[in-house]
Amino acid sequence: MELRFDKKKKIGLRDPKLFGQFIEHFHRCVYGGVYDPASSFADEQGLRKDVIEALNRIGVPVIRWPGGCFVSGYHWQDGIGPKRIPCFDKAWKVEESNLFGTAEFLDFCRKIHAQPYICCNAGTGTEEEMSDWVEYCNQTQGKWARLRREHGYEEPFHVKYWSIGNENYFDGELGSRNPKEWARLVSRASHMMKRADDRIELLAPCANNLEWNLRLLAEAGHRLNWLSVHSYDDMLQQVNEPSSYEQCILWLDNVKERIEQAESAIHLMGYRNKIHIAIDEWNLRGWHHPNVDVPGADYLTPRDKNDDNSTYTMADAVYTACYLNECFRHCNSVKMANYAPTVNGRGLIYTHDDGIVLRPTYFVFDLYANLLGDEILDSWFDQENRFALSVNGKEQNVSWIDAVPTMQNGRLRIALVNKHPEEACRVFFASSAGELELFTLNGKSKDSYNDIDHPETVRVEREILKTKASQKEIYLPPHSVTIVREL
Ligand code: AHR
Repeated sequence: MELRFDKKKKIGLRDPKLFGQFIEHFHRCVYGGVYDPASSFADEQGLRKDVIEALNRIGVPVIRWPGGCFVSGYHWQDGIGPKRIPCFDKAWKVEESNLFGTAEFLDFCRKIHAQPYICCNAGTGTEEEMSDWVEYCNQTQGKWARLRREHGYEEPFHVKYWSIGNENYFDGELGSRNPKEWARLVSRASHMMKRADDRIELLAPCANNLEWNLRLLAEAGHRLNWLSVHSYDDMLQQVNEPSSYEQCILWLDNVKERIEQAESAIHLMGYRNKIHIAIDEWNLRGWHHPNVDVPGADYLTPRDKNDDNSTYTMADAVYTACYLNECFRHCNSVKMANYAPTVNGRGLIYTHDDGIVLRPTYFVFDLYANLLGDEILDSWFDQENRFALSVNGKEQNVSWIDAVPTMQNGRLRIALVNKHPEEACRVFFASSAGELELFTLNGKSKDSYNDIDHPETVRVEREILKTKASQKEIYLPPHSVTIVREL
């Protein structure tokens, strides 16, 4: 198959915020993940140095916090100052120590060189509570700025990204709203927050519900900079039976439609190029947290299943690469995406007493963030690029190679994903370079994964290809992610 593209036919520029991350006060993501004062890897603030080092390697541009469902019952004033009083987290039904609060999060952002993105409580919180948080972080005047200085932070934190609420459209969220209530709330909150600091950028969740989105944009669109979209496919919230490689590949056909649904609401309301899309929670796997509303049931132990490294295989790596490819193809509207979550659970990194495990998805971010170019080229194949994928005994026709050619300083850098579970393939493309550098992420099988006692089952192999031929030929193993760059 020949991949065709024209270096002059650029789709646009990808925004680095597409490699954003997300940490939530859930299970071992923050406590025991990012923040673990008892760990031998903890720094003077209790943050894990091995996690910080791994995140600096993939260059995190922006990180969202503190939730997720958690935020809809969270009062930020409990997490500031010298005295932290534990409270009950009604979202996840655990005690929240409040030891990791605003200052600790911003310290973490500084250490991983990421922009902070704070999600506010639109569940049990008020519009004024949200705008007070903006004042505490960004103002120089008034009681909240004064309190920040009393807490030892003379200079404002300059937090640019703020979200009004999380998934307040669904009944499981604390303080859920109907479309009419939501639009009014966002209108009031956005007004106050922009008054607290008119330099901030505001996000608000859109839903899989046209009325919700149109009312939101009609009432508050003029004050919003982003629409927040959440995206999970393998819905394991109640039953943790991770789907097969083949099923996960099939779900990739949903991604384009999910993005276009948000695009259509933005375009319909006249906000094209004014409001962008932030997929500020995305992962192949939904998080497992059953029984939260089952009286007397054990809702804590099942959460440990999120940490099972065998769940995260080449299916997750191939899905994650293709997901990022789709975001690149929509780079003029999707300008932020936050992998959910970053540490433990369904995350890129798993922490344990003796170190960390880098999961296959981590290496996708390592390859994409460090090796691909910013200019996204349009591309197509010279022939049918599809194969018959068998899922639960039913054959479905899906695209075989998912390719995105990019450019950096006039040189080609191409992402090539072979989605086929068994078969290798070859791709050809035109290039005048005499030397190519190939990085291929793969494991022995589509179900390979990394774990404590075998941390490099799935790894990146590097190869140099020297050829004078004007048409290059690249071999793509089954279930693999490859980056090719011209030297
Ligand atoms: O399953 C975890 C939850 O996924 C996040 O807290 C929420 O935002 C999303 O529904």
